Amino acid sequence: MIEWEKLPFGYMPTNANIRCKYTNGAWGNIEIHHSETLELHMSATCLHYGQECFEGLKAYRGKDEKIRLFRWEENSKRLNESAKRIGMPEIPKEIFKESLLKLISLNQEFVPPYGSGASMYIRPLIIGTEAKLGLSASVENLFVLFCSPVGPYFKTGFKPVKVVIERHTDRAAPQGTGHVKVGGNYAAALNTTLEATKKGYSAALFLDPKEKKYIDECGPANFFGIKNNTYITPKSSSILPSITNMSLIDLASHLGMKVERRPVELTEIETFEEVGQCGTAAVLTPIYCIADLDNKKEFIFGDSDTPGKQSQKLYETLVGIQFGDIPDPFNWITIVE
Ligand code: PLP
Ligand code: COI
Repeated sequence: MIEWEKLPFGYMPTNANIRCKYTNGAWGNIEIHHSETLELHMSATCLHYGQECFEGLKAYRGKDEKIRLFRWEENSKRLNESAKRIGMPEIPKEIFKESLLKLISLNQEFVPPYGSGASMYIRPLIIGTEAKLGLSASVENLFVLFCSPVGPYFKTGFKPVKVVIERHTDRAAPQGTGHVKVGGNYAAALNTTLEATKKGYSAALFLDPKEKKYIDECGPANFFGIKNNTYITPKSSSILPSITNMSLIDLASHLGMKVERRPVELTEIETFEEVGQCGTAAVLTPIYCIADLDNKKEFIFGDSDTPGKQSQKLYETLVGIQFGDIPDPFNWITIVE
């Protein structure tokens, strides 16, 4: 018996995963697999030269028992942007969609029940599988799609967290791969994240890698601040264009707020009334404290128990649409029949 309410954000085996191979310049048939492991040549380019890109999206079960997917076409587009950036073939939207629907239909009982607060996390990835030592793009690739029921990314769920400003490492370069979802970005941030969590923070707040003057990303999520009824979120060439953030931008306007997407100087943080981070895993997580350890300062936004009013409204509207509790005026939801 799965204790849905207690699920962590973690991997759990399900019934099946989907795979599709790319060989001789073309994607092959969609295959259903029951094994959780891959057979991979030790010289595959994904292992040595980082030819790997991935996605993350969720399926939600509504009160009506129907399973809803949130903006999967955006994930399909972004996966292809990532693949292109690291010399890998794009995966046609039709293969992505068919794989996704097959994966869900084979793992339906793992989509958590409505009201449990949990959802099903879906992880598509493409890896370079050609065995070679020379540095060039793999001509053989594998698309894999698996899923796992998950609880909240931060143990506290929708409760404000504290984060710490990072000035000594970068997760990406100014014209590098920060704007796409490739494994290397995450490896580059792991040590810093580990240090931040050891000190009791839930994430590191990365600054722009060129000048260290502007806010970039907040752990594996985008950053936003709210002041004067305006939703403000950083613009930078090294930030991943978050689908959750894109949605919050639309929702903020819909709810009567102004929206600004522009470079955000670190010095501006003290002027915000509310701040938070957003992403598929993080959903919308309010931040109550940003610590600047280099300057022995803390910026406080409300308290650790109470999300800000506008963050709360944005969160409720986003999650309401995802679970089908409120209408979806943007056509973001695909119901899985
Ligand atoms: N930024 C990074 C580095 C991420 O890993 C993610 C997660 O996907 C996000 C932002 C949020 O993006 P999305 O809302 O599309 O999940
Ligand atoms: C997501 O939010 O989907 C991500 O990919 C972040 C990951 C670290 C769980």
